[in-house]
Amino acid sequence: MYIPKHIAIIMDGNGRWAKKRALARYFGHIAGAKAIKPVVLHCNDIGIEVLTLFAFSTENWNRPKIEVAGLLKLVNNYLDNMDRYLKYNVRMKFFGDLTVFSEDMQQKIKCVEEKFSKNTGMLFAIALNYGGKDEIKNAVKNIANMVKKNEIQPDEIDEKLIDENLYTKGLPMVDLLIRPGGEFRISNFLLWQSAYAEFVFLKDVLWPDFKPRHIDIAIDEYGKRNRRYGNVV
Ligand code: IPE
Ligand code: IPE
Ligand code: MG
Repeated sequence: MYIPKHIAIIMDGNGRWAKKRALARYFGHIAGAKAIKPVVLHCNDIGIEVLTLFAFSTENWNRPKIEVAGLLKLVNNYLDNMDRYLKYNVRMKFFGDLTVFSEDMQQKIKCVEEKFSKNTGMLFAIALNYGGKDEIKNAVKNIANMVKKNEIQPDEIDEKLIDENLYTKGLPMVDLLIRPGGEFRISNFLLWQSAYAEFVFLKDVLWPDFKPRHIDIAIDEYGKRNRRYGNVV
């Protein structure tokens, strides 16, 4: 099978999953958090190099305070229980504008990344307070400062330099972007990195019901695509 290097997933549909069961949205997020591990392990098993999950967007702050608090609590719980991934040899990366989070949470994130850094398996990346536009804005600021300090000339700005100033520095471009939940949009996720990603929208599954077999379905579909990159044939 034709295996993508970098899979990115927009974990969507938790709220609708809860609503269908007459539960509060928070329970959808709990179920969503539970769906993560089998998917991560499966991707690691089949040789994916990078799996990036969209956990919280820069726009998600617009949700009711109580929902945001619930989501952050779940993220914190997740961070506290990362040790259960250690034996699977995955590496960890959290990215987005992490500066808005408490010192304590930022410290936890650093500790987790450090603890996993000697592993050699798949990179499991989690986008937190992430927005593609925010990321590009930050890259532009960094580069503008480099120009101001005369470290580079405007003419020297190329795609590589922009890549290096994104949160995803060093990661390969997204090959396959999967979105369950029934929405057909990118919602400000990995805008630059998805320039040539193949999109698979799984409209009949909500994230809490997402299983490793849905990864296989998406990879199967990916294998049928003809990635031309603007070329012919
Ligand atoms: C995705 O599920 C979880 C996050 C955005 C953090 P939603 O909460 O967006 O679920 P729906 O789209 O309302 O069903
Ligand atoms: C995208 O889902 C963000 C995450 C999955 C973290 P949303 O549910 O927030 O996106 P929209 O509002 O449908 O575009
Ligand atoms: Mg949603």
